[in-house]
Amino acid sequence: MDKDYIADLRKAGKIHQEVKALAKSIVKKGVPLLEIADKVDAKIKELGATTAFPINLSINEVAAHYTPTYNDETLAHGLLKVDIGICVNGAIADCAFSVDLDNSDINKKLIQASRDGLEAAMRSAKFGMTLGEVGRNIQNAIVKHGFSPIKNLCGHQVDRFIVHAGQTVPNYDNGSNQRMVESGYAIEPFVTTGQGMVYEGKPSNIYRMINKKNVRDMLAREIISFIDKEYNGLPFASRWVVKKFGPRAIMSINILEREGVLYQYPQLVEKSREPVAQSENTLLILKDKTEVLTEDFKV
Ligand code: CO
Repeated sequence: MDKDYIADLRKAGKIHQEVKALAKSIVKKGVPLLEIADKVDAKIKELGATTAFPINLSINEVAAHYTPTYNDETLAHGLLKVDIGICVNGAIADCAFSVDLDNSDINKKLIQASRDGLEAAMRSAKFGMTLGEVGRNIQNAIVKHGFSPIKNLCGHQVDRFIVHAGQTVPNYDNGSNQRMVESGYAIEPFVTTGQGMVYEGKPSNIYRMINKKNVRDMLAREIISFIDKEYNGLPFASRWVVKKFGPRAIMSINILEREGVLYQYPQLVEKSREPVAQSENTLLILKDKTEVLTEDFKV
């Protein structure tokens, strides 16, 4: 692996730790999700990094992919997953934690099970290990609690300006004989009391440019060049575009989505609509060692 890239990955991990500490201190029941998102965005900027994707603030049965709109009124509650992506020169640190804002024993147990799954992976993942075995270790730690991993959500390799690159890391033993290579890997066990599958639900307010082409709408054209320059193909939030162009940008974003220039991610919802917890860290797998980048955790 390229030395500069490794240095950038480590730096992204360190910055993530600071951002996560801020996020943990402000997430409380009843706080507007928009306020949490704005403060986290500001902190990332203050630390000299950029976002790898908009903060995901997903509640209860929504496993992932919700970010507030510019005028969002949702208040933090329930089992809240906070997933943040930090980018340093294209190197990506992806890390998430869950909080129980309901004072619910079940929520707390789900969070512990996802944490145990993550720890099992952090302790065992290494160069050359099969992905099926990593998944089995995660699964064993989760089923001990009597819960299910979500099978159609996976960890993933990270690469420069690519959040989901190359290999996926299953949260159960899927029998994969593919072996871990030298790379950054985001490992993210999702745990539920439900059946352990997600489906695609309502829109997320998270977008990515998938086909840069010309459109007639003048504002839409300006938005295309802004997104292209600002986000380098990485996912972005509609509220960031509104911040730059005002609320009239929403109509242009809708046009760009219809025209196939932008893709809007759907929310990922647990099939039996049961609560979901998530724990995630980014690891650096090297031939001779494994490092946890987004947490002080010795393996
Ligand atoms: Co993540």
